[in-house]
Amino acid sequence: MVSPQFVFIVTLAAYIFFTRWRRMKQKPLEPAPELEQPKWSLYTASELKRFNGKSSPFIFLAIKGDVYNVTEGGKFYGPGGPYYTFAGHDASRGLAKSSFEEDVVPEGDEMDDLSDLNEEEKSTLNDWKTFFDQKYPVVGRLVTPTEKEQHLAAEKAAPVENISEGIPAADSRSSTPSEKN
Ligand code: HEM
Ligand SMILES: *[C@@H]1O[C@H](CO)[C@@H](O)[C@H](O)[C@H]1NC(C)=O
Ligand SMILES: *[C@@H]1O[C@H](CO)[C@@H](O)[C@H](O)[C@H]1NC(C)=O
Repeated sequence: MVSPQFVFIVTLAAYIFFTRWRRMKQKPLEPAPELEQPKWSLYTASELKRFNGKSSPFIFLAIKGDVYNVTEGGKFYGPGGPYYTFAGHDASRGLAKSSFEEDVVPEGDEMDDLSDLNEEEKSTLNDWKTFFDQKYPVVGRLVTPTEKEQHLAAEKAAPVENISEGIPAADSRSSTPSEKN
């Protein structure tokens, strides 16, 4: 014979299990922070680094200052891919010199001005840039921490509608601190 205590315990356990299970199923999916990425943004080299397919599911790389979302090319740029060196980095020098050795990607936050490239390397780089422009979306600009600070300060002083244009609202332009370019 099964004891009443045993039936009680089993019923209770089943009840707890099902209420938990139902709550779990109903709980709405919380969006991962990375799904709320801005469509367009300024990135310093250190900020770009996490978009390497490892620290983040997304992969970005920069070419001549433009940041490309190469997530779709994960088999090339993802962990274990042949061009993983470029993931989360400025790939300009490597593409110009046809090298994906570690030493072609800048590590610091300073910009690689590429001024030492010869004509052939510059031309190779431009061809790659054309290729990336056709294949991948641009999601931002690579900037120095100083440029980013200045931009954020200017934006705070004069909010812009469209960050990718970076042009302050018409009525506040004269009072904008810096108007470089
Ligand atoms: C060692 C000799 C190499 C071989 C055998 C090789 C092979 C390939 C192959 C088969 C593709 C795919 C092409 C396609 O999808 O139609 C490719 C794409 C590519 N390769 Fe190489 N490659 C080599 C060297 C390099 C070097 C030195 C670089 C530059 C540092 C480079 C950069 C790229 C890039 C950026 C892509 C485009 C990937 C994309 O579609 O996003 N490759 N390569
Ligand atoms: C980058 O591309 C991936 C895959 O296409 C997409 O899910 C993600 O939202 C994109 N990120 C940005 C910032 O555009
Ligand atoms: C913002 O500016 C970019 C670059 O000029 C343009 O391509 C884009 O269409 C603009 N977006 C909006 C919402 O105006």
